[in-house]
Amino acid sequence: RILILDFGSQVTQLIARRVRESGVYCEIHPFNKVTADSLAAFGAKGIILSGGPSSVTEDGSPRAPQAVFDTKLPVLGICYGQQTLCEQLGGKVEPGDHREFGRAYVDIVADCALFTGVWAKGGREQVWMSHGDRVTRLPEGFRVVGTSDGAPYAAIANDERHIYAVQFHPEVVHTPHGAQLLKNFTHGVCGCLGDWTMAAFKAQAIARIRDQVGKGRVICGLSGGVDSSVVAALLHEAIGDQLTCVYVDHGLMRLGESEQVVSVFRDRFNINLVHCDASELFLGRLAGMTDPEAKRKTIGALFIDVFEAEAKKVGGADFLAQGTLYPDVIESVSVIGGPSVTIKSHHNVGGLPERMNMKLVEPLRELFKDEVRALGRELGLPDDMVGRHPFPGPGLAIRIPGQEITREKLEILKKADAIYLEEIRAAGLYDAIWQAFTVLLPVRTVGVMGDSRSYDYACAIRAVTSTDGMTADFYPFDMAFIGRVANRIINEVKGINRVTYDVTSKPPGTIEWE
Ligand code: XMP
Repeated sequence: RILILDFGSQVTQLIARRVRESGVYCEIHPFNKVTADSLAAFGAKGIILSGGPSSVTEDGSPRAPQAVFDTKLPVLGICYGQQTLCEQLGGKVEPGDHREFGRAYVDIVADCALFTGVWAKGGREQVWMSHGDRVTRLPEGFRVVGTSDGAPYAAIANDERHIYAVQFHPEVVHTPHGAQLLKNFTHGVCGCLGDWTMAAFKAQAIARIRDQVGKGRVICGLSGGVDSSVVAALLHEAIGDQLTCVYVDHGLMRLGESEQVVSVFRDRFNINLVHCDASELFLGRLAGMTDPEAKRKTIGALFIDVFEAEAKKVGGADFLAQGTLYPDVIESVSVIGGPSVTIKSHHNVGGLPERMNMKLVEPLRELFKDEVRALGRELGLPDDMVGRHPFPGPGLAIRIPGQEITREKLEILKKADAIYLEEIRAAGLYDAIWQAFTVLLPVRTVGVMGDSRSYDYACAIRAVTSTDGMTADFYPFDMAFIGRVANRIINEVKGINRVTYDVTSKPPGTIEWE
């Protein structure tokens, strides 16, 4: 395994993802939380120092703990990691008059273990840079292996001590051979075997769950989304009938989704599943409500009440399973205010474990989203469930904006949404899109159908690309595709006579309409 010390770079998580993609388990820890003892206990075969927003030339800027160098483990410094490493080992870093941001080229002036198989002396290679400061004098024992216009020491090596450092970012896709460089470090230099696969993780996770749960009973809230589905399938494989899943159906799911949850988990996996159809209750409580935040709060609070009541009915659960993922638990380094812990409780059952006196089982805490998907496939979950777009907790309620939610409107929206998604799948575009959905607008418009006048709802179709939901771009469909979707919705869905296409990015828009 590899330890990544985080100095606060925006792209530290990408280092972890590249390392894991090469079959090596790794974790990200804040730079200032590592001690000689914790390092020994972690058992790393090598250490990577991430980039970061600080300047090594400023007083009080972060430094790698001395233990990192005392261990004699291989070290790879990236960007800020390179600069602090050089400074700490006796080199010099200065503010550069030639800042480099974005694409740059590195001249390879010597061969090096990092470059094996991809870069060779004499080559000129594309990389991605983002730095103002630069190393201007090497520490003793180092040699330069790559240079760029803005960074005379763009890549350096101390072969004897197995310390390597680069000014550019090998973890981003804009450094085309970056993944191989990282693999050369983890496999070639550190000697990792690359045997961390999803099959291996699954076996390990099952053993840990059995160990934690013993003969106890576990309750798991299923939502139909990827994370809870994978948690349920994994727990079932680990503890069989000690698991009960509760699916609170608020009636705001997409067409056919509730049926799929029941058929996959109860019929195919043979999991104890409580399907609680609470749509009357939810729709009753939402009656007359139009404000988005009021809808969210009502749905969230009611969800917890219903889940808790169902869990009590099941009775005797010692553990609550949750689909917490690695990005939710990584301690983030905020250099200005000191390190801070950001733990997002994005689950609808937040607060429940304490109230019900249950312990948590969180078997996905170490995984990134794409790893969760791979695990889901490993567990035999259907592809369309594992590859599913994110779907908000309040469901279709926030896709009927500015108006009261009624069964009639929900039925109209579900049909339009199903047609839209069917066309996206048929065109092979589903996986290229982060989220795609239909919004039922609070406006009726006039149309002509046959010889008569219609006066029906308008809907908007939305599709965005994104990597994390924080920023997003609208998906540029070709007009023939949009025309086909519009035509089908207007012809097949009674109640809609006009379709519009949302071309707003985030920011300034949001992904959902409310
Ligand atoms: P926005 O609309 O804020 O959405 O750009 C960003 C991501 O969050 C999802 N979303 C929600 N998820 N409860 C959720 O569980 C909510 O209330 C909620 N609102 C938005 C949205 O679908 C997108 O993936």
